[in-house]
Amino acid sequence: MITNELINEIRNKINIVDIISNYVPLTKRGKNYFGVCPFHDDHSPSMSVSFEKQIYRCFSCGASGNVFTFVSEYEHIGFYDAVKLLGNKVGYNLSTSNSKVKTNNDYLDIYELACKFYQNSLNSNLGKNALEYLENRKLDKDTIKKFRIGLSIGKVSLTDYLISKKYSLDKLIKLGISNEKGTDLFVNRIMFPLYDLSGNVIAFSGRIYNTHDPSKYINTKETEIFKKGTILYNYHNAKDTLKKRDSVIVMEGFMDVIRASSVGINNCVATMGTAFTKEQAMLLKKITDNIILCFDGDEAGNEATLSAIEVLKEFNINPRIIRLPEGLDPDEYILKYGVDKFKLEIENNLSVIEYKMNTYKNNKNFKDLNDISTYIDESIKELSYVNDKVLIELTLKKLESEFNISYDTLYDKYLKYLNKKEVKKEVIKKKELTFNKYEMASRYLIYYMLKDENVLNVVHDNVTYFKEKNIRGLYSEIIYYYHKYGKVNIADMISYFSDKKELLDELMKIINMDIKEEYSMEEINDYIKVVNYVPVEDRIKELNIELKKENDPLRQANILSEIMKLKGVGKW
Ligand code: CTP
Ligand code: MN
Repeated sequence: MITNELINEIRNKINIVDIISNYVPLTKRGKNYFGVCPFHDDHSPSMSVSFEKQIYRCFSCGASGNVFTFVSEYEHIGFYDAVKLLGNKVGYNLSTSNSKVKTNNDYLDIYELACKFYQNSLNSNLGKNALEYLENRKLDKDTIKKFRIGLSIGKVSLTDYLISKKYSLDKLIKLGISNEKGTDLFVNRIMFPLYDLSGNVIAFSGRIYNTHDPSKYINTKETEIFKKGTILYNYHNAKDTLKKRDSVIVMEGFMDVIRASSVGINNCVATMGTAFTKEQAMLLKKITDNIILCFDGDEAGNEATLSAIEVLKEFNINPRIIRLPEGLDPDEYILKYGVDKFKLEIENNLSVIEYKMNTYKNNKNFKDLNDISTYIDESIKELSYVNDKVLIELTLKKLESEFNISYDTLYDKYLKYLNKKEVKKEVIKKKELTFNKYEMASRYLIYYMLKDENVLNVVHDNVTYFKEKNIRGLYSEIIYYYHKYGKVNIADMISYFSDKKELLDELMKIINMDIKEEYSMEEINDYIKVVNYVPVEDRIKELNIELKKENDPLRQANILSEIMKLKGVGKW
């Protein structure tokens, strides 16, 4: 049983700023922390997190709540499972029937054991050939250790080992570790663990090293916790460096990232051979807008670059591009030309427009006037997406001199494309809330009641009735809660309302109203006057009906005292 007391106790042991910053980078500005809101396609930090109040809210989409609602929304789990998840992190042992929360923990334990098992195998006698292969690829001991590279032998069965640890074969099959026959799925491959964003092992990629298997890499199939398009290889290692350097290099293969890291370039992540996704863009956008694409130098790498540019365009990001020569991938390039040359390639990165204009040149014959015209058309169309005025002018001037076409003609064409271009506007906008004086006053009172016991008492003693059902509901629950627990605050009330959806929504709306923090008792009294202007007789009748239905003695007492108060007040 999860009681309110327990929920509050757990919440008191956790700081919302710490928890949210595990998911979203936060920067301190004034009293609050700000970050990109994960609950809509946010382009600027719209979410603020208050240490003082232990709540978050998004100015743009209106998402708000306490630490439990954040985790529940982010992880797509129920409120109580979020309580359990966080509770277990701070030393409680709360069991859950939610298969997501539960199996995940199990999954992670199994992959962690498997990872260690593979690492040990690499260092065993049977791992000599594999180690030799890695040495030949110029991977040193530290790098092997850092990326936890291992070996699947198959003779020494990982399946047997995990079954001896009491994990069922069914589960191991589900996790892509064993096959139906009860033997290891990966045999005789160098094992690269793949990590989630926090660095937990969630899958493996196994590479051939001494056989001629047609598939170079075999990956764990996708599971609930492993979805290739939602992670980036090395994200957990690189995260802090990305923040510090305010830039990231995106590569295709994890071997490229491992190579770069081994020569001291630590701000790299990899998509692992599949198309760059929106989720991945969102992950990086939360940390930095300076994204450098460094895909393989072959045609597939070019295609991947172009498609990543399109994805990033939706996020208002113009990436920089590194195009490696001779079809090399970053790993091969660094081995062939050395790290210093590679750093030069990084420095000499191209803007999207330069890169695209280079690719438009491919397969064109500039002695053919049609080809020139097409080239200029393609280039200027692309230029209409550039925001940098200097870059626009420079590019047009370059075309002017290269093809001897007047600047005006080129500029006209540019304007034509500029007008055609669809201007995408941010879709989600906070709904403007318009309240009348009465509605404003009652919401202010609710808000300040949650901030200050004095206000709570004054309101309790003087307000006779809130005519809006939800506000009335909030009010009576707050009073009930206060009498039961002896104190109130916003964060705990959010937990308390977690299974009273309508009231929770109402409270969230109030939190999002941007109510000023300072107030005087005079103002409070004015609000009370506004709210109290209602017919009293009707209200007394209503309360008597409520009283008959109520079983809880504390609630009964509250209703009675309200009736007494109303009778004392008399008619207006
Ligand atoms: N990949 C994969 N399955 C394959 C080939 C590739 O999953 N059969 C993924 C891997 O995650 C790999 C990425 O695609 O990291 C890039 O592939 P590739 O460029 O072929 O691999 P390299 O990084 O060059 O690896 P290596 O140098 O070991 O050949
Ligand atoms: Mn390679």
